[in-house]
Amino acid sequence: MDNKIDMYAKIQECASWIRKEIPNRPEIAIVLGTGLGRLADEIKVERAIAYKDIPNFPISTVEGHSGRLLFGKLGNADVVAMQGRFHFYEGYPMRIVTFPVRVMYELGIKTLFVSNAAGGTNPTFAIGDMMIITDHINFFPEHPLNGPNYPTGPRFPDMHAVYDRELIEMADAIAAERGIKVQHGVYLGTQGPTFETPAEYRMFRILGADAVGMSTVPEVIVAHHCGIRVFGVSVITDLGVEGKIEEVSHEEVQRAADAVQPLLAEIIKEMAERLWK
Ligand code: HPA
Repeated sequence: MDNKIDMYAKIQECASWIRKEIPNRPEIAIVLGTGLGRLADEIKVERAIAYKDIPNFPISTVEGHSGRLLFGKLGNADVVAMQGRFHFYEGYPMRIVTFPVRVMYELGIKTLFVSNAAGGTNPTFAIGDMMIITDHINFFPEHPLNGPNYPTGPRFPDMHAVYDRELIEMADAIAAERGIKVQHGVYLGTQGPTFETPAEYRMFRILGADAVGMSTVPEVIVAHHCGIRVFGVSVITDLGVEGKIEEVSHEEVQRAADAVQPLLAEIIKEMAERLWK
């Protein structure tokens, strides 16, 4: 999987293999990141395919992620959900981290939902808040579009509205109707695997971040390059705010995200319903 020309052929090969396996073409893709894992239970799965069984597909290593593509119905909408994503900190180069998004684009998806767990740097945030991502800062050391350009989009992509404004408005309306509190903010994606030092949190806040995490930005950049509409949410699982910084572990992040899952799943499910109509 070394050069980009080969990669493009591998992506096509992978997508055409999947096309033969699935009953319906999904238009909505969901990356079941931390905070959205439980949404899988809401999907009427018609076909689940393990990453290891898909030709050319990478295999995930992080505990708690089983590594499958789920094809099925969320409400009336045909969706594909990624159970398990690929993080840069696992050692994958960006072309592997973003490989599934490119495959799902080839399958015909028009909209991508992503979620993540993040440390809040905005002092008005609390643990357990959901932050609708309005913009991002790419702080990764490798750019996912580095190298020869893919024919899915321009060499120099515009980035002025990556997170679809209509989808943000739709989510806001659903949250308001149901009395669910949501925040808005800028997500800064950084490589990890260390959580931030207090000085790094301070720096990220000064740079304009409301939340910091180790994922999402690569997939979103590639999706945007493919012309896919993106909606992203961060679940604030810990705080990087001076005076409120405490020791943090993966388990605590998982626990805080789990508590918010039902509400986030409710919003995403309703969005899928409305998009499908
Ligand atoms: N940084 C800080 N806190 C976090 C992160 C992160 O990357 N992910 C979840 N909580």
